Amino acid sequence: MLITLEGIEGSGKTTQIDYIAAYLQKFGLEYIITKEPGGTVLGEKIRSILLDPGNNNIHPLTELLLYAADRVQHIKELISPMIESGKIVICDRFCDSTTVYQGFTRGVDIRLIQQLNSLVLEGLKPDITFILDLDPEIGLKRAWKQIKDGSRAESETRFENERLQFHESVRNGYLELARQEPNRFVVVDASMDPSKVSEQMLKHLEKCLMAL
Ligand code: TMP
Repeated sequence: MLITLEGIEGSGKTTQIDYIAAYLQKFGLEYIITKEPGGTVLGEKIRSILLDPGNNNIHPLTELLLYAADRVQHIKELISPMIESGKIVICDRFCDSTTVYQGFTRGVDIRLIQQLNSLVLEGLKPDITFILDLDPEIGLKRAWKQIKDGSRAESETRFENERLQFHESVRNGYLELARQEPNRFVVVDASMDPSKVSEQMLKHLEKCLMAL
């Protein structure tokens, strides 16, 4: 089973992953937590290029291909073997980030992204995707607070440095995807208290687990 979490910067994905992990643990279910970009040793190197605020001249197509390269390695080396061994994979961002950031927001042709996604994913699809929906002004404030207090790396702020309009487009992109595929996406209001957010998410996760 593959569970993915999506959302703008500062939407609280990391906190919610901890809640999901604690929930799965309670039921003795085996899981791993991973992320994109950077779920493998090679991916960590790609991540540092992609998120370095100094790399402000990356062409959108270069950016797209680097995310795709990270994902191929991640799927082949970690995600597919883990799923095949019966583990639940919880992934912080996945292919929907590419559609929303590189496609809807950077403007790379969506058909190209779909072609690339099908090449990279080889039929793999998240069973459930949570979108932590939040006003970007609140998300960015949270993210920059974490950067200032050191809990989020300053060396990885290329996207946090984008204008508000960019993050608004990302938010709208996610909501559009959720409209297109309501059976897979669960949109949760991430402005609530984290424990309330998790309550809503776990209700949906429970249903998804029962359906397996
Ligand atoms: P994060 O690990 O702090 O969420 O940062 C990852 C950044 O990379 C985030 O700003 C979203 C961006 N991203 C894309 O633009 N495309 C992708 O395919 C993925 C996985 C992430």
